[in-house]
Amino acid sequence: MTVLSSALDPAGPEYRAHREAMLARLADLDAEHAKALAGGGEKYAARHRGRGKLLARERVELLLDPDAPFLELSPLAGWGSEYTVGASLVTGIGVVAGVECLITANDPTVRGGATNPWGLKKALRAHDIAFANRLPCVSLVESGGADLPSQKEIFIPGGAVFRDLTRLSAAGIPTVAVVFGNSTAGGAYVPGMSDHVIMVKERAKVFLGGPPLVRMATGEESDDESLGGAAMHARVSGLADHFAVDELDALRQARRIVARLNHRKAYPDPGPAEEPRHDPEELLGIVPEDLRTPFDPREVIARIVDASDFDEFKPLYGSSLTTGWASLHGYPVGILANARGVLFSEESQKAAQFIQLANQRDIPLLFLHNTTGYMVGREYERGGIVKHGAMMINAVSNSRVPHLSVLLGASYGAGHYGMCGRAYDPRFLFAWPSAKSAVMGPRQLAGVLSLVARQSAAAKGRPYDEDADAALRAMVERQIESESLPMFLSGRLHDDGVIDPRDTRTVLGLCLSAVHTAPYEGVRGGFGVFRM
Ligand code: COA
Repeated sequence: MTVLSSALDPAGPEYRAHREAMLARLADLDAEHAKALAGGGEKYAARHRGRGKLLARERVELLLDPDAPFLELSPLAGWGSEYTVGASLVTGIGVVAGVECLITANDPTVRGGATNPWGLKKALRAHDIAFANRLPCVSLVESGGADLPSQKEIFIPGGAVFRDLTRLSAAGIPTVAVVFGNSTAGGAYVPGMSDHVIMVKERAKVFLGGPPLVRMATGEESDDESLGGAAMHARVSGLADHFAVDELDALRQARRIVARLNHRKAYPDPGPAEEPRHDPEELLGIVPEDLRTPFDPREVIARIVDASDFDEFKPLYGSSLTTGWASLHGYPVGILANARGVLFSEESQKAAQFIQLANQRDIPLLFLHNTTGYMVGREYERGGIVKHGAMMINAVSNSRVPHLSVLLGASYGAGHYGMCGRAYDPRFLFAWPSAKSAVMGPRQLAGVLSLVARQSAAAKGRPYDEDADAALRAMVERQIESESLPMFLSGRLHDDGVIDPRDTRTVLGLCLSAVHTAPYEGVRGGFGVFRM
């Protein structure tokens, strides 16, 4: 074994300062997560309970195996928008009757569970995860359908929800819908497109048009129950396969359905793994508040991989990118971690080679981000930084082993792409509260804008207003800084969640377990043309 040593001094002032800053950010994060948990707030939760109904998260909890973890995804969806944090939908991965499933649950306390633009993005992301990892999907349905005031943004793309359900089914990935309440209009296609459907007595309402719409359209008088109640669908239309007497019965039946799916994982559980030799609690004190100060990612690796055991690849070459082999909760992983921020030609070529090796050996890759991007400047351009960066991006793009990304610190510019940013389809991408991601740093971006404006004024022969320039720079810096922060990015679904650094090993372990539900094989030679 090659156990990593640590140079971290938990008694030192630097560690303490980093830890304090991280704890403050975690407190802010907790406050935002609490908003997602509160959903529509006390008034709507009390009304919902008064109707004898369970809250969305209670439904999820009762569906899961007792004490099973639930890896909630995108809990901050909608953050910074006009919609409630969490976007009226709960999504995540949990174990139901011993089977890892992708679970979605409408939150009826938020605008009747209606789907807003961020909730739609969240639902589509959940389906992507189910597809890539072959996870059965269980939808806990109670929704007012489209959030009507924002229909222009959701109606057309929203059709993909129903398309996905039937494509999952076609791919042999089971889909189960449990209908607890309203599921009208487009929403009726959630049970309509699912393999297995359970409806709750006198609660489920599944119809293309409710009684008022039917009266408007045809003049026919009807009521909810005869038009789309559970009894009618179980006895007459056949849309319901299972009739549940109440919510608990519906969740019990859902567990029985999942137990009988005969859904097998592609790989066996690797069994218990040795914990890291270094304390994960210390992950709080590694990343400096000012991301311009470098930190050694081996300190992070030492606290997340099995037995802190890490065999480095090319440690003496391209040393601002650390690459090497480890296992995490028993699953083999290849790790690429930025060490000193900038990616040079050597680092890019080393990354491309390492990614090829992982593909030859069918080993998943973990990207730990802290990069300001690829090096600029005459010397580096002459040295071929564009083609070497392109080499790394080619390797990441065409690699076929599962990728996981965690943004620890900076993730700027094309460095975000080369390190398997969101657009490069990592199976999962999480951020630490210390992360920042943008096209470049706020100061650099404001400076570039100012230079461009100055040149433009000079070209037109106009005087340049220095005071206005300073004000503009300050404003742009503030704007870019706020748009680089993890809560902002998570709100827009650019990651799958912002996590406590201490949870990194657990979160990645849950992801790796989900990943190993689907078979995978590395690409053997199927890369684009590498520019040499
Ligand atoms: N879009 C936007 N807001 C909606 C909504 C929708 N589709 N459905 C409900 N809301 C809002 C309501 O206006 C209400 O807001 P308020 O409390 O600020 O006044 C809040 O959500 C709760 O709705 P309410 O009707 O009081 O809740 P309920 O639990 O008694 O009934 C529904 C929930 C979903 C059955 C009912 O609101 C409804 O029928 N909505 C319209 C459904 C529909 O036709 N959707 C179109 C499908 S494409």
